[in-house]
Amino acid sequence: DGPALVDRFGRTIRYLRLSVTDRCDLRCVYCMAEQMTFLPKAEVLTLEELDRLGSLFVARGVRQLRITGGEPLVRRNVVWLFERLGRHLDGGGLDELTLTTNGSRLAAFAGPLARAGVRRINVSLDTLDPQTYRALTRGGDVAAVMAGLDAAVAAGLRVKINTVALRGVTERDIDRLIGFCGDRGFDLTLIETMPLGDVAGDRTERYLPLDALRRQIAARWTLDDIPDRTGGPARYARIAETGGRLGFITPLTQNFCAGCNRVRVTCTGRLFQCLGQETHVDLRAPLRASADDDAVGQAIEAAVAAKPWGHDFVIDAEHRTPALSRHMSVTGG
Ligand code: GTP
Ligand code: 5AD
Ligand code: SF4
Repeated sequence: DGPALVDRFGRTIRYLRLSVTDRCDLRCVYCMAEQMTFLPKAEVLTLEELDRLGSLFVARGVRQLRITGGEPLVRRNVVWLFERLGRHLDGGGLDELTLTTNGSRLAAFAGPLARAGVRRINVSLDTLDPQTYRALTRGGDVAAVMAGLDAAVAAGLRVKINTVALRGVTERDIDRLIGFCGDRGFDLTLIETMPLGDVAGDRTERYLPLDALRRQIAARWTLDDIPDRTGGPARYARIAETGGRLGFITPLTQNFCAGCNRVRVTCTGRLFQCLGQETHVDLRAPLRASADDDAVGQAIEAAVAAKPWGHDFVIDAEHRTPALSRHMSVTGG
């Protein structure tokens, strides 16, 4: 085993989120503006560079690798990257290779991803209602996601659904989502919307704190807390009636930074040590400067050592401008 990545607060980094594109085929209202400027292709790391970078993290103790976007499945030949990174599974140091996807192209990709070694995926789905889905994603077709979920099940992938809590939407749709996930054997995680990027529309009015939503859910379903904290942002409960897990990601109402186990790298090779801070380190320059992995490895180690304590997101009437100008789609969450 190589040197582990440890920050100055003693947190060990075992989880890397690697974004392969800032592009997406949807435009979720809390994530992107209607008109987005995307990065020029020359700025974006090649698949070979992404493989090299991911492998350097695995050599430094990263056990879980999550491919993100934008939407990772819009990146050309992305399956090749999964196949390459998959060589670190089964004794090669990596415990899990996974992705977060909007599901729109999953019908075609579920089989190839499973064959590359992916065992579980997170799929973003805020509502089951076709009209509401179309409005929230600015044009998306929920039927495509349903076909993708069927393909995922057929390919033997475990599925977790991600639902961003949105006032006026989630209160109305949550029981149906819980029932749907229970029937299909999916876990479900609710996420408080985070103030990243200028997304147009009023984030303050869309924000739905999860403590309120949890009270509503608990009035109808039996929630048994699962004490185990894995270092991820979610706290989980078991829903007795369905047997499924319900996760709560609460960056606004309950901070989880003390147990943070992760960093993220953008598709241009910027390592963001914290989702909620602007500080980052460029890994593309050392990556392109030489074939010497040590220089890149040292840049990674120094960057992790300098990881900030955490985010300080706020959403209220006095904080109507975004905390960070960077859009969520740039770091993939
Ligand atoms: P697993 O626990 O491995 O299933 O993944 P995850 O839930 O951490 O990842 P996913 O990509 O499904 O992200 C779900 C939500 O968690 C997204 O809104 C992410 O932005 C958010 N998230 C993930 N990591 C962090 C983090 O370190 N800090 C904050 N504030 N949010 C995070
Ligand atoms: N706040 C919280 N979650 C967000 N996501 C996208 N934008 C935001 C935001 N502003 C979610 C997506 C996806 C995950 C990677 O992040 O819905 O499930
Ligand atoms: Fe695309 Fe995901 Fe952002 Fe929606 S949340 S616009 S699906 S990157």
